[in-house]
This record gives sequence, structure tokens and C-alpha cells, in this order.
Amino acid sequence: MSRVIHPRLARPQWWRDAVVYQIYPRSFADAHGDGLGDIPGVTSRVWYLRELGVDAVWLSPFYPSQLADGGYDVDDYRDVDPRLGSLAEFDEMVAALHSAGIGVIVDLVPNHTSNRHAWFVEALAASPGAAARERYLFRDGANGGIEPPNEWESLFGGSAWTPAGDGQWYLHLFAPEQPDLNWDNPEVRIDFENTLRFWSDRGVDGFRVDVAHGLVKDLEEPWERQDELELWPRPDGSHPLWDRDGVMDIYRSWRRVFDCYDPPRFAVAEASVHPSRRARYASPETLGQAFNFAMSDADWRPGDFHEVVDTALRDAAESGSSTTWLLGGHDSPRVASRFGLPLIPSPRVYADTADGRPFRHDSQWLARQWLLSDGRRPHVDHELGRRRARAATLIELALPGCTYVYQGDELGLPEVADLPPEVLQDPMAGRSAREKGRDGCRVPLPWSADRNALGGNSFGFGRDGAHLPQPDWFADFAVDVQSADPTSTLTMFRRAVALRASLLAEASGESPAAAGGFAWVPAVEGVLHFHRGLWHCVTNFTDGAVPRPAGEVLLCSAPEGAGDGVPANSTVWLRAS
Ligand code: GLC
Repeated sequence: MSRVIHPRLARPQWWRDAVVYQIYPRSFADAHGDGLGDIPGVTSRVWYLRELGVDAVWLSPFYPSQLADGGYDVDDYRDVDPRLGSLAEFDEMVAALHSAGIGVIVDLVPNHTSNRHAWFVEALAASPGAAARERYLFRDGANGGIEPPNEWESLFGGSAWTPAGDGQWYLHLFAPEQPDLNWDNPEVRIDFENTLRFWSDRGVDGFRVDVAHGLVKDLEEPWERQDELELWPRPDGSHPLWDRDGVMDIYRSWRRVFDCYDPPRFAVAEASVHPSRRARYASPETLGQAFNFAMSDADWRPGDFHEVVDTALRDAAESGSSTTWLLGGHDSPRVASRFGLPLIPSPRVYADTADGRPFRHDSQWLARQWLLSDGRRPHVDHELGRRRARAATLIELALPGCTYVYQGDELGLPEVADLPPEVLQDPMAGRSAREKGRDGCRVPLPWSADRNALGGNSFGFGRDGAHLPQPDWFADFAVDVQSADPTSTLTMFRRAVALRASLLAEASGESPAAAGGFAWVPAVEGVLHFHRGLWHCVTNFTDGAVPRPAGEVLLCSAPEGAGDGVPANSTVWLRAS
């Protein structure tokens, strides 16, 4: 499909320093009026995305799916879920986004299909040993087939094996509706390359690769015991399920596909790997970019942020790519709530690595435990959380690299922590009595403070309600309210993205992608200060105002403005004189 390329997307490797907005399509905007967000809903909000100033959108899966895992259970990789639209409507959406200069990244889910995918239906109907079973990971059950082959557990709880009914069992690292593919089978490899071409031919600019570290597995016996299997990959690639070296062969062949296009397509890996191995996914020979989740785990402490930034920039230099920044996403409790939780006294260190870098998983994990638990819920200071989230947003937007922003975070939307159990959709919900899962960050966006704006009891989301119930307080966060408020989080976000674009362009003339400079500036305790040329970013992590370095204030995250200093829990952007 030939198209005129918007100058913004024609820049070589525009994605290296892009601001990418993550759309969770079922919860963004509902044009069909059935309570479920859809593709025409995205098209109907191109004005909003243009006003945000983002360079690209990443769409979480919109493919046909029974929604056993929010669409990450794909029935057909080359179609649109009829409830969400059609391929023609997808093309219209891409055209509308492109003419606004906004790139399109789609989510690819290669670790597993859904159990309704034609291949899996065929595999289940086939006999043990049949070629159709070789596309998945079937094994004989133990004890004559009546027990799973081993004791491995799925990430969503319960056994990682489900019986096929004839003595064999299939592996699923996630829900039983998500059978894992066998990437040793060349047919699987060829088919996914065809999927890459299918969407690239339709004008898609990039791919977000789900569970990118999971594809290649070692299922040779003897199996490792469940208690030996860390949830997190090992620094030496020896884990039987995660981050095996063979994964890179797949991505090198994908690179050959990407490079057939002009401009070349790119991909970003969702790879929960040891930090020392992330560079391999982001290399120009493989996917080009990898998510760095460290900032979404960081606590509101200058030391945490300092370390996250240093590590990310070092890893980026190693990979030859730019780094990525994320504060939230569809899998994590909302950042505005997380930063309102009490600070964790000492973050957990899961492993100390060969090269001495700690591998931590802290506030994110605790936020899930704390915020979503029943009964023992700690006090969440919403005002403080929102304030810190605004300050953190200005940090990530000032740093070199690509920033991913999850829908609703530009509104400072808090987690909906009290969804009643009967409405929960996430397969993670109910794994334990306290686990509420990820639905609280997936509640449809409030577009209007009027619940019945479209006659639909959905704060302007659609004409017929919202597939997850929106609380009354969503009115305060609605797009129309915030658009009219010069101190709102949305207004701050729009200003920040616009300023960032002009500062980068100014710094580097014709090619903003080349703007790289970054250096720390010594600061008083509780303050982080860095600069990129004349552009300075100063964050005060403390609860009292601190003096402000010299320079013209360009933007302040605090709703009340900068005043004479840097206000408590705030970031200020300055232009040095
Ligand atoms: C990724 C997705 C998550 C999904 C899982 C299984 O982590 O972000 O939402 O549940 O993969 O596909």
C-alpha cells in the first residue's frame, strides 16, 4: 500500500525519541455504542491524540479474541475483532492517524495463540504425534496421562498444563486459553513473518512484541523443579522457559522483514529479562527497542530515579538503541495511585547479578499487593500520588529516549481499586483471595464530566455504558473538565509534549533525533537535577519547597505553579540563562 509519509514519520528512526501513547482499545472510545471501545472509536479521537502531540500510538490487541486475557489471546492475527471493527475501519484509522503525523504500533502476541485459533482447534482434534500438534507444546501426561507432565505453574496460577483428553497435555505459561506455540517449528516462524508483512503492508509502522523473551523453550527432560524455576529470567540465559539465546535468531529474521520496508519497521520488546541482557532485544540487528520497566518499579526517591536513569542510559549505549521510559501500562496499578502509597522501607532485591547490578522488583509489586488487597488496604494519599506522578512525567519527558504513556495517565487517573468481584475480567483476578488483577487500570476513559454525555452512562466513552464500571469520581478527571483547566494534569501534559518537541528541535536543528546530550548537575539532598544543553530538569522529591537554580521557568508540574523555588514533590523545567 503506497502512502504519502508525514514528515514526522519520515525521519529515520523517528521512534528513538518519540512519545508513544498506549491505547487499550476496548477502554479508549466506543463508537459502535455497545460498551466496548473499538477501532472507529480511535479514529473518532484523532483530534485528541493530535492535541496531546504524541508521535505514535501503540494499540493493545484488537484481534478476534474471546477476551480470556484482555485480547492477549488471539484467534486470528490478521483480522480485527468484529466487535471492534473491520479491516477497512482499521485502514481508515491508520490513514487518519498518519495524516495527523501519528505513527501506528500494533501488538504482536507470538508466545501463544488463543485456544480458538484454527491451529489449536486442529491440534486438539488431531491425535498425539500428528503434525498439527507440533505447532504447540504437547507432552504425554504423567502416570499414564492422568497427571500433568510436570509440576510447572502458569503465571496466572494453577498448572501450566491442561489435558487434551487423550493422555497428552499442552503447555500454557499464561491462561489455559493461551496455548504456547512451538517456535522450533518452521511453520510457526514463517507464519509470523507473514503476519509482520500483513500489517506492515497496511502501513503499520511498528510492533510491540508481547512476552518477547518467552518464545524459545527447552522442554527436554529432566525437567527443572518448580521451586527451582525463578519467575524472572537468569543472567546467563539458562532458564528453560525465559530469555534463551535462540530467541535472537527469530528477531534477526524479523529484522530482515522490517528492513524490506521504507522506512524500515521497528519493534519494541516486552521482555522481562535480566537488565544485563536487555540490550540484545534492542539491538539494530534485532527488534530495535526494548521496554525498560525500571521506572515503573521505582519508588519516589531521588536515589531510585538516579539509578534507573543511569542504568537505562548505560544499557541503551550498549544496545546501540535509545532507551524507553514507562511509568505505567495496562498491566500495572495506575502510577497516580502507586505514588500515593507509603514508601517501602527497603526495596526487595531479587537477585544480585554477576556484574553487580541489583535486579529489583519493588514498589510495583507492593502496589499490587497493597492497593488491591481487601481489608488490609493502606492509606493512599491521592493528592500526593497525582502530584508525584505529574513530577515523574516531566522527568521522563525530559530524558533522552522514547517515552510510552498509558492512556489515562495524561489525566492523572487513579486506579479503580474497588471494582466489585463480579465485574472483574482479568484472569489474574482471584488467583488468591486478595488478588484483584489488572482491571483497575483498564476502566474506560472519562471523556466528559457528564455521565450521560452521549446518552450512555459512560462519561462520554460511548452510547451504551462501559464494559467495566466507572466510579462517580471519574467526572473530576474527564477530558472536557481538564481541557478547560489551565492547572490540570492534561494541560500540563500537552504543554510538556509540545515544549519537548520544540526544545529537541531547537537543540539539533533539522534532526531532533540527534539531540542526545544529558548530564547530571550536582544538587542538594532530595533533589535531582539534569540538563540537556540549555534545558534543565529539576525535581524536588521532598515535602517542602527548595531553592530553584537560575534560569527561566518553562514549565512546572505543581498545579499551583513554581513560585520562588521548586515546590514540594514537583519538577520544574528551566532554560538556563
Ligand atoms: C503481556 C501482556 C499482558 C498479558 C501477557 C500474556 O505481559 O502485557 O497483558 O496478560 O503478556 O499475553
